[in-house]
Formats: sequence, C-alpha cells, structure tokens
Amino acid sequence: MTALPMRRIPFDFDDDLPFVWNPRNPSFSTFMNIVSVFAVAFEKMLVAAVREALPSITDPAVAEEATDFLRQEGQHATCHRRHLKSLVAHYPGLQETFDEVIASYDELTATKSVNYRLAYIADLEATFTPFFKLLLDNEEVLFRPGDDRVASLLMWHFVEEVEHRSSALVVYDAVVDNDWYRVRVLPSVVKHLYAAARIVADGMNEHVPFAERGMDANNIKPALSLRNAMIARIPWLRSDEPVPMPALGEVPWSQKITSAARVLLSQTPFHDPAKEPLPEFADDWFKRYERGDDVAHWYSSTPTAAS
Ligand SMILES: [Fe+2]
Ligand SMILES: [Fe+2]
Repeated sequence: MTALPMRRIPFDFDDDLPFVWNPRNPSFSTFMNIVSVFAVAFEKMLVAAVREALPSITDPAVAEEATDFLRQEGQHATCHRRHLKSLVAHYPGLQETFDEVIASYDELTATKSVNYRLAYIADLEATFTPFFKLLLDNEEVLFRPGDDRVASLLMWHFVEEVEHRSSALVVYDAVVDNDWYRVRVLPSVVKHLYAAARIVADGMNEHVPFAERGMDANNIKPALSLRNAMIARIPWLRSDEPVPMPALGEVPWSQKITSAARVLLSQTPFHDPAKEPLPEFADDWFKRYERGDDVAHWYSSTPTAAS
C-alpha cells in the first residue's frame, strides 16, 4: 500500500453558486448537492470511528493507512462544508436540514458500537469505486456542462475515493475481522441511509423554491428514475406533465447495469476492492495534479490543443 497523500485544494465557492449548478441536468445537480451533505455528515462519523479504532490496530502498515484514510476524508468534509456554506448563504433554511443530518450521524457515533460504525463505513465505501467509476466515465455529460467549481470538487473527491478504495475494508478487517458481520448489518445501514436521504431531500424541497430547483428532490432515487423511464414508454400511462431528465438519463444503460451489478457484488462477504476496474479519468486527474494544474477549476484550466 502506497501512502495516501492529503491534498489541500483551494476550492472557492462564492455566494453566487446556483442550487442547480448544472442547468442541463437539475436532477444530477440535486443528487450531487445531496452527496455534498452526506460528505460532511457521513465523513464526520467516519473520522470519529477510525480515530476510535486506531489504538486497537496493531499492524503499523494498517495504522498508517487508517491515519492517511481519515486525513483524506477529513479534507473531503472540510471542502464540502464550503460548498454547503455557499448554499446556505442563498437558502438559510437549509442550515437546519444540514444540522439534522449531521445530528443523525452524530447519534450513530454516540450510540452504536465501533464495530457497527466500521461495518457501515466499509459497506458504503465499497460501493463508491463502482458507482464513481460510472460517473467519472461519463464526466463529459455529467460534469463538464456544469459549474466548474462544483464539478471540480466532486471529481477530486471521487478520484480520492477510488484511490483509497480498500482502506475502509482494511481497517474493518483489522478491527472486526468478521466477513459476515458487515453483510448482516447491511439492512440497517441501508435503512439509515434512506432516512438521512429523506431528511436532506425534504429539507431541500422545503427551503429551496421550486423555481430554483426544478424538481422534487425526492425524485432522484434510482428506483423512481427507472419507474419514470418505463412509464414514459407506455402511451396510456404517460403524463402530460414535464418530467425532468433522470440524474443519469444520459448515461448508457449498459454502463448503469454493470455499475449496479458491481455495487451489489461489493456487498458480498469476500469482496476485494483492489480488484475493481478503475476509471481512466482518475489517472488523468492525478497526472494533472502532479504537474501543478489548477484542479479546483478542472475544465476552465484544461490546456487546449492550441496552448
Ligand atoms: Fe470522502
Ligand atoms: Fe472514502
């Protein structure tokens, strides 16, 4: 395992940041705003759990990976907090929603065993590489048309999730050492995730005017997108009301199915994230970062063929 560097990237979010940061795709914009809230709340819980587990990790290599892992996650939460601050500047009521989600994760920290929290973290982090590969493989349609600052924040976060794809499981195995426990707690993890997502979506519906979000924030759920796509193909069920394009509406179905299958496989007991296929975009990102490009403005700083 090579060291995981902590990269401090100067993301700048002014108070002019629109809620729908990718006007071509309000659903994806909303979805990623929800991800930003989770980045703060979930990663706060993660950092606390890994810190609590550290004294019981005896293997120095694992302890080093755990420390690097929580530093990267701490940096993610810090930068997403800046994104949320900018949203709150526009929609002050959202602060209450964000506090409620953070409180829901703080409650896990206060009431659940460290083994449970490490299982939660390992379960969720295992889904990231297959899911973020799908997003990064389609960055041209999902991120490029949007606000460069938000797109750059998300893409940085996702490539680092791919970079530390094994860390949560390495820590879990060192402390809990039970391949089946994380499978057993999965239903309760999913239940908590859904409840937290509901808090965020309801809060966005309440505090962001419809004209500025363009959709019901609860409609980003993948099952609903699938249902809407099917209904749109059946003439007598089709509604005359405009339905926004699903968040991943421009992503090929074959890729979505592969990603969904890999996400499901990631929850099986002997899953090894090290064997996951990786997005090519991650290599480009690391190369540009290494040569000192402005990765906080990924698209506007991309060298053109003429430069
Ligand atoms: Fe993260
Ligand atoms: Fe992570």
